[in-house]
Amino acid sequence: MASLRSWLRATTAVLTTSAALAAPASHLKRASITQVSQSQADTFTPTAHYASASYCTPDSTLAWNCANCGKNPSFQPIASGGDGVMVQYWFVGYDPSLESVVVAVQGTNPSAIIPLLTDGDIALINLDSDLFPGLDSSIQAHKGFADAHSRSADDILAAVQQAFDKYSTSKVLLTGHSLGAAITLLHSVYIPVQIPDAKVTYVGYGLPRVGNQAFADYVDAHDSITSVTHINNMEDPIPILPGRLLGFDHPAGEIHIQDSGEWLACPGQDNTSSQCTVGDVKNLLDGNLSNHSGPYNGVTMKC
Ligand SMILES: *[C@@H]1O[C@H](CO)[C@@H](O)[C@H](O)[C@H]1NC(C)=O
Ligand SMILES: *[C@@H]1O[C@H](CO)[C@@H](O)[C@H](O)[C@H]1NC(C)=O
Ligand SMILES: *[C@@H]1O[C@H](CO)[C@@H](O)[C@H](O)[C@H]1NC(C)=O
Repeated sequence: MASLRSWLRATTAVLTTSAALAAPASHLKRASITQVSQSQADTFTPTAHYASASYCTPDSTLAWNCANCGKNPSFQPIASGGDGVMVQYWFVGYDPSLESVVVAVQGTNPSAIIPLLTDGDIALINLDSDLFPGLDSSIQAHKGFADAHSRSADDILAAVQQAFDKYSTSKVLLTGHSLGAAITLLHSVYIPVQIPDAKVTYVGYGLPRVGNQAFADYVDAHDSITSVTHINNMEDPIPILPGRLLGFDHPAGEIHIQDSGEWLACPGQDNTSSQCTVGDVKNLLDGNLSNHSGPYNGVTMKC
């Protein structure tokens, strides 16, 4: 955990002041914070189980042996990979009840120290032009997340293409928690760049900031990315990292789980209302890392 702590320490000074910044005028929209009903929250439960199952070591049949595996019994595996150390575990398959291909990528946990070191690499860089041809040069992302994405990008892309062909669909649900949420947000840009027909639904849990304003704007505006939701639990500090003063921004689509357990949808990017994460968790001292793994409507992110 030492690397996580040093990462948190490195960003503290910035974070304490960043919450005081007003949102850029271009992102002020007339919209209100709305309650997410229990039945709406329940629609995310299969996704939470996928994100959670990504922590488990996949075996050759993808029959994972863990508490949150097997919770989507109709899932049809296509491929899996990663080693849980240098390369986050990932799996790709098809969910007939969601009528979508599913991609889930593993996040960070205390036993995966090297991925945490990856998280510490907070420079903003341009995305690799071989993986992301044609992206505007203003678009930048966290170097550590971009590197982590690149290690399995080709394998995941091939599995998604295979699944699209096999199941005659172009819908793909991308999900993950923590580092896995960051990697799958990059896949939400990468997959449609490589497969222009792809229609992406993204659901991230405890998502840190992945890129700069131009990156967030691209995610929000791109037609192939049909839906973006990032769900933050209570006082989890990870979503306020890296800080906005370092040049990082979230796309729109936050759902913030209140301390009461109520789910609220927060409009816009980095909404500073006290009901949303940026306004509620103003700095690391306001945060509680024990909230990072959930529960998200009853699902805890672990194998
Ligand atoms: C945050 O939410 C409020 C509603 O409470 C809304 O008026 C405001 O425009 C939102 N901020 C952003 C940046 O979208
Ligand atoms: C953080 O969460 C833990 C576990 O739920 C709790 O014991 C602790 O009091 C919380 N800390 C703060 C500062 O709220
Ligand atoms: C989340 O943090 C709150 C403090 O904000 C604490 O009371 C609660 O127990 C934590 N929940 C979990 C599951 O750790």
